[in-house]
Amino acid sequence: MNKELRQAVIAGNWKMNKTRPEAKALIEELKPVAEKATCGVVICVPFTNLETAVELTKGTNIKVGAENVHFEKSGAFTGEISADMLTEIGVEYVIIGHSERRQYFGETDETVNKRTKAALAAGLKPIVCVGELLWERKCDITKEVIARQIKLDFFDVSAEDIKKSIIAYEPVWAIGTGETATAEQAEEVCLFIREQLAEKYGKEVADSVTIQYGGSMNPKNCAELLAQPDVDGGLIGGASLKAQDFGVLLDAATNG
Ligand code: 13P
Repeated sequence: MNKELRQAVIAGNWKMNKTRPEAKALIEELKPVAEKATCGVVICVPFTNLETAVELTKGTNIKVGAENVHFEKSGAFTGEISADMLTEIGVEYVIIGHSERRQYFGETDETVNKRTKAALAAGLKPIVCVGELLWERKCDITKEVIARQIKLDFFDVSAEDIKKSIIAYEPVWAIGTGETATAEQAEEVCLFIREQLAEKYGKEVADSVTIQYGGSMNPKNCAELLAQPDVDGGLIGGASLKAQDFGVLLDAATNG
């Protein structure tokens, strides 16, 4: 067990939820809930809530992340946000390659790789999402899919930089469906990801990387998932929108 070599991080992914007043209310509720957490606490919020979140979480243990970032520094990219724009307002994390971006917005492993490198170059910590489709799991190619994503998404990323990155294993069939991967399935793939990292960067580096599970994690199933030796926290959708539920997950990561 090398869990002590890395930080468990519970990160909320608010997705396209919460107007600014709603965001303010939720963050105020989260602050006391998160106070005692010994794991890392991150909330990834819509662009319109980033400044609010940074302001309201100053002096707390809650860090703020964006849900996407563009790979160019600036220019004619209507609707996009650069890494420098995020760091300038105090954002520290960014989700990259979420399956919803891959599914609905044409995100590819190549653009995930570009975004990851741009984020790292600007000093952001990327939370890079990988995961197989249900069809791919049924065809028994989960590991091929994951190995390919890890290879492509982290192409040309140094050992120093991979240590600053978080990888979120999110089986696409478990996202927003209420269907969770079993603790064994989550552990099997998180361990496999660590083995892939060890091949490329060596065991010491691989042991230091935070690998989260994401997909319908909730107060009922979190303890077992978070207790797995290679599951270092979670990327949380629905349950991150309720302060009480998020608090249970933070406690489980703290105790797990
Ligand atoms: P749910 O927790 O709502 O299944 O979402 C998971 C997710 O996509 C986090 O990025």
